[in-house]
Amino acid sequence: MPVRSLGYIVAETTDLESWRDFAANCLGLMPAQSPREDVALFRMDDRPFRIWIQKGEQNRFLAAGWEFGSRKEFEEVIERLKAAGRPVEMADVMEARARHVDALARSSDPAGHPFEIYYGRHYDYAPFVSPAAVSRFVTGDNGDMGMGHVVLTAPNFEETHEFYKDTMGFGDTDLGRFYLAGGGPDDPGVGFAFLHARNGRHHSLALGQMPESPNGAVHIMVEAATLEDVGRAYDRVVKSKGKWHLSATLGRHVNDKMTSFYVRTPGGFDVEYGWNGLVIDPDTWIPTTSMSVSDWGHKWAHEKDD
Ligand SMILES: [Fe+2]
Repeated sequence: MPVRSLGYIVAETTDLESWRDFAANCLGLMPAQSPREDVALFRMDDRPFRIWIQKGEQNRFLAAGWEFGSRKEFEEVIERLKAAGRPVEMADVMEARARHVDALARSSDPAGHPFEIYYGRHYDYAPFVSPAAVSRFVTGDNGDMGMGHVVLTAPNFEETHEFYKDTMGFGDTDLGRFYLAGGGPDDPGVGFAFLHARNGRHHSLALGQMPESPNGAVHIMVEAATLEDVGRAYDRVVKSKGKWHLSATLGRHVNDKMTSFYVRTPGGFDVEYGWNGLVIDPDTWIPTTSMSVSDWGHKWAHEKDD
């Protein structure tokens, strides 16, 4: 059975306080009780956490946590990982308990990104309250759509793309080719694969045919319930007097119709802060091919003015 959703992400930081400030006061995530002093946890819904930040030597994205639906599905994916020649390390009971799951294992993809797999849904019964008055984050019924999406780079694009489909059970939603160097005769374009887990979110994972990202990931996406939530978050970044860096202006993506902007995390990778992403039926969806990224906006900070 296929992967169900992006359950959580794990990142490392040299500066927990910056992350605490950013996650709560910029993104509007709810600080959650943490089992350890060197770990900060943030909630988006009724799961115990969706973002796990741990103190370390680097500022980077560490791992996606992919959810499976049952012990059987979890054991099956472990068998497929082993058959594909990927390393599998079983986490012990205490590690699984810290992640609020029934069982946990670690592996990596052919591009070298570590990831975790788990099954077992635990809940936090205290109501979700955003410290920045975000109305709600969109994670689906019972959190089925997961916390959002993650975008990774893969120099060995084909091999990594096949791995996520054949071994992890993702499906293609959109196979883009983007001409980021202007689309002239010397621009071969960059391959992208947008992949869905077994839920309605347009993509839970995207892969770009690019060299390894120094920050461990290109971006993660979180989806708020209203355009006003996105607009207010945009204001918080713009009015932060440079404390938070706007990576790309408001815009709308062609393929998942997400209206969003991008802000840089203290981890160096970006957060896409979005609203109104396309919901698909993963059982009947036929993959599309997008030839551009956005139909308006999303002007990147490093782009020159037209
Ligand atoms: Fe995105």
